[in-house]
Amino acid sequence: MAAKVRAMRVVDLDRDMSDVIPTSMSRDSEFLFDRMTQATIDAALPGPGRRILDVASGVGQDTIAMAVRGATAVGAEPSQRMIGMARLFAEEKQREQKIDLPSWVQCWSDRLPFATGSFDACICKGAMDHFDTPEAAIAEMARVTSTKGRVVLAIANFESLSCRVGRAVDDFRQDILGRDPMRERRGYDAPSDHFTRYEVDLIREQASRHLILNEFRGLSMGWGMPGWADFLGWLPQFVAGACVRGMDAFARLAPVLADVIVVVGQPRRSDSTSA
Ligand SMILES: C[S@@+](CC[C@H](N)C(=O)[O-])C[C@H]1O[C@@H](n2cnc3c(N)ncnc32)[C@H](O)[C@@H]1O
Repeated sequence: MAAKVRAMRVVDLDRDMSDVIPTSMSRDSEFLFDRMTQATIDAALPGPGRRILDVASGVGQDTIAMAVRGATAVGAEPSQRMIGMARLFAEEKQREQKIDLPSWVQCWSDRLPFATGSFDACICKGAMDHFDTPEAAIAEMARVTSTKGRVVLAIANFESLSCRVGRAVDDFRQDILGRDPMRERRGYDAPSDHFTRYEVDLIREQASRHLILNEFRGLSMGWGMPGWADFLGWLPQFVAGACVRGMDAFARLAPVLADVIVVVGQPRRSDSTSA
């Protein structure tokens, strides 16, 4: 009889963020990361008395930021190493100011060990494309969030303006000029540790099966576009700031071209069937 082989997940549970945290940041990166963090956290409405779950919390910076705003914050993360770092960062923050330390739970996003409706909000930032079963994760986030609560998903758009321009430039170089692509890793291709290459239709389709969508917002535009970071670096700071804010305004008008999509929705289940 053939031996039964159990499926194994390919996430490195001892991973930390040293390979993804950049050591220096261009102006467009700085703007995008800050904007994505603020928009995600603000949408969860953190405050005293609110229970908020951060799914795939990584090293916990967003979980801690929500605790700083008074929320009862819980970080859910499979990597024990990242949880260890998150604990240290939270304790460091507590030495600076009085906060209720977040709780950290080691778990997968598609099997959240919490009762139905136990949170007022749930966030998941920059992580869904790392999940092998992302839609099951959305279903779980919807389940553990109260029916009057909100689920906030923030995800990179691989059909953004920058991805389209980058691809067009590379196609031109390769097909017309017979040269190599501009960079080794092409920004419009999902990195090797991603399972899903999200764009607006896919995230809308998956999210709307489990959430009643209240907001579908585009953030930032132009991040990673060939020459954009150098151009911004060359401008006086206040002009560069006006440029990235202007592009952010375009992203709001045309989420399909935005760098990041933020989806805010309410769980799609009735009060009579669950908490
Ligand atoms: C790029 S990090 C994002 C972390 C954090 N949300 C942030 O914004 O910095 C992706 C995270 O997803 C976690 N992850 C990968 N697969 C997962 C899964 N199936 N369930 C839960 N978390 C997972 C990783 O351990 C990692 O912490």
